Amino acid sequence: MYNWEQVRDKVNAFVDNLKFEREPLELYKPIRYTLAQSGKRVRPVLCLMAYNLYKDTIDEALYPAVAMETYHNYTLIHDDVMDRADIRRGKPTVCAKWGDTTAILSGDTMLLLAYEFLAANAPADKLPQMLALFTETAKEVSDGQQYDLDFEKRSDVTEQEYMEMIRLKTSVLIAASLKMGGLVAGASESDLENLYAYGETMGLAFQLQDDLLDVYGDVEIFGKKIGGDIRCNKKTFLLIKTMELASPAQLAEINGWISNPACDDDAKVAYFTSLYTSLGVKDICEKRICELFAKCDAFIDNLSVSPERKANLKAFADSLLNRNL
Ligand code: IPE
Ligand code: IPE
Ligand code: MG
Ligand code: MG
Ligand code: MG
Repeated sequence: MYNWEQVRDKVNAFVDNLKFEREPLELYKPIRYTLAQSGKRVRPVLCLMAYNLYKDTIDEALYPAVAMETYHNYTLIHDDVMDRADIRRGKPTVCAKWGDTTAILSGDTMLLLAYEFLAANAPADKLPQMLALFTETAKEVSDGQQYDLDFEKRSDVTEQEYMEMIRLKTSVLIAASLKMGGLVAGASESDLENLYAYGETMGLAFQLQDDLLDVYGDVEIFGKKIGGDIRCNKKTFLLIKTMELASPAQLAEINGWISNPACDDDAKVAYFTSLYTSLGVKDICEKRICELFAKCDAFIDNLSVSPERKANLKAFADSLLNRNL
């Protein structure tokens, strides 16, 4: 059994060995660049830890785990085009460094590489289920990303719509990564359902944290530009709750900022940040994150594996609870 740090190190070593030496260089350089910046490796670590609940070694599941990470990195490259983002993991985004056309094509190629990795050493009897899970998940992520963009233009997005949007854009991939690990390991249908539900709930908390860090994070640690969501008029939990709690005068002011594309972006970020704090939505969001993390445990408890193995997986969730990157 491996702890999550050992699992992450194995993922990093495996990714380092994928050389991507194919030409044209202009297509593969951005792929190497993206995968070499390790990020947190949340999805492959979860995939391998789920596998490790049932099997003592994890090497057999490295390819599917890295397929999930490659797919995730593809979504980030395209997401940065969509969100007009120029820094990620403390470095220029692919679109900022090489332009949108490279970001589109290198991203597309990573999606294909993800399929290649998924099938690379998959057990023949499991491959159809693995492909079905992966493809449905990827379609859901696209659905979520489109809702996220649609919501930029709307000011009546409800909390319920927001929660469904983040379930699609973020949770399902985390859930599918866990389920993929369980699937490859031969877990029971009931365990697969619990692994998925665990990831789905944790994914919601994870995206709420991301939205919170987008406002209150430290750029040096978080690695992304602070206030990016405010600049794009993203309908985050923070903004939706703020609009629920704001006075009519504050609401008019909020709408003024949102409807003025020529406004001073820094002043806009400062305005919303102080409003989120003064209306208490930062605290509400933090409380919601804790509640969601607390809900996760029940799904792990339901798994038919030893308490020791469960504790190992819980330790990873605990490491994410107070994350600042
Ligand atoms: C960023 O994901 C996109 C979200 C779903 C919030 P991560 O926060 O996992 O990004 P990296 O891979 O660690 O950089
Ligand atoms: C992430 O949403 C969802 C996907 C990349 C699919 P964000 O747009 O909030 O992610 P970051 O903050 O740019 O990493
Ligand atoms: Mg986005
Ligand atoms: Mg983004
Ligand atoms: Mg974000």
